Amino acid sequence: MSRSSRPLAEHAARAAAMLAELGRISDAPDNLTRLYLSPAHRRAADLVRGWMEEAGARAWIDAAGNVVGRFGPDGAPTLYCGSHIDTVVDAGRYDGALGVVAALLAAGDIARSGAELPFAIEVLAFGDEENVRFPTSLSSTHAIAGGYDPAWLTRRDADGVVLAEALQAFGGDPEAIAGLARDPARAIGYLEIHIEQGPVLERAGLPVGVVTAINAAYRADCVVRGEAGHAGTVPMALRRDALAGAAEMVGAIERLAADIPDAVATVGRISAMPGAVNVVPGEVSFSIDARAPADATLAALVAEIDAACASVASRRGLDFASTPFMRAPATAMDHGLQQALVDAAKRVGIAAPRIPSGAGHDAVAMAGLCPVGMLFVRCAGGISHNPAESVEESDLGIAVAVMIEAILAVGRARGG
Ligand code: GLV
Ligand code: MN
Ligand code: MN
Repeated sequence: MSRSSRPLAEHAARAAAMLAELGRISDAPDNLTRLYLSPAHRRAADLVRGWMEEAGARAWIDAAGNVVGRFGPDGAPTLYCGSHIDTVVDAGRYDGALGVVAALLAAGDIARSGAELPFAIEVLAFGDEENVRFPTSLSSTHAIAGGYDPAWLTRRDADGVVLAEALQAFGGDPEAIAGLARDPARAIGYLEIHIEQGPVLERAGLPVGVVTAINAAYRADCVVRGEAGHAGTVPMALRRDALAGAAEMVGAIERLAADIPDAVATVGRISAMPGAVNVVPGEVSFSIDARAPADATLAALVAEIDAACASVASRRGLDFASTPFMRAPATAMDHGLQQALVDAAKRVGIAAPRIPSGAGHDAVAMAGLCPVGMLFVRCAGGISHNPAESVEESDLGIAVAVMIEAILAVGRARGG
């Protein structure tokens, strides 16, 4: 039986309304695109800060662009809960936002109920989880977890805008980022709810699952240089076509990942220069995103990809350079928090299975600060990073109820 102070259906309807409102805040006129430090990110952050204040938190937007809502006194030990409000390009409305809304409704419910907890709760809406705009790695999350790399401030987006300048325009403060790191001695743990982004829960007919570990991830920007030339006059045998070479590399990347069980690799972005119908492409840029359940497996895959690309380049007389900009280790969820989430789901009447995560999450960075635990919520068809992302409204109520139970269980375990 859930101890939520409101019926699950009420939380579900409120969560759905909040997610719909947040989902309308976009930088693009006809789809949901909300990249880190964009005008839409700022509007979304202001909206979330307002919700946090309405729920009874002291709320602010920090120097790195995170929204923070604190329930409880400063200086107290703290349980962190949340997820992110940035999105991919042409996104769905649940990836990240669901975890922020569910954490906020749960913390607000507990605050209203008057339950005494031996810690404060901080609800966090991180800004840079997708790492789509700047080549960084969970930068705003690391600012809180204490792992911020100052070199990220010099990174540029596709328009040449430097991160530090974008942060200032947003209202943030590069100089103050070092001061955002929380004290590990007072960080009890981090709980994150997220849509599963895969089909396992839906196939099992279950609304929620408890995450065991998050796959290791690697991202790089690659450049292939050949020689631009006249498409009508340069004979095929004399060409140094950067795009034809890149196409071979993309095929090799796909084959290499397919040969390793549970590994994946994706070339999600590619552009050819000068990009004219009658010019042999002289330069191509493409991205690599690779993941695997173990660090060693991923390292082996990346080494094979680099070797394969170098070999294609040398056979075709091209130059190839790969610049890694993200390496996240495989991240295990804390056993105690896993159990707290399994037990919390049981109290809500659900036998939550334990499942691994192929997607990356803010929890990877927060694991550098404190023990982390994650709850997955089923989504239709396992579809994510796609506007067709969809979650049953009733599952939103269950997610909030499980979060409430998990927070209260962490409180009891600490003598509250
Ligand atoms: C985050 O969404 C990721 O790419 O895993
Ligand atoms: Mn996400
Ligand atoms: Mn995502």
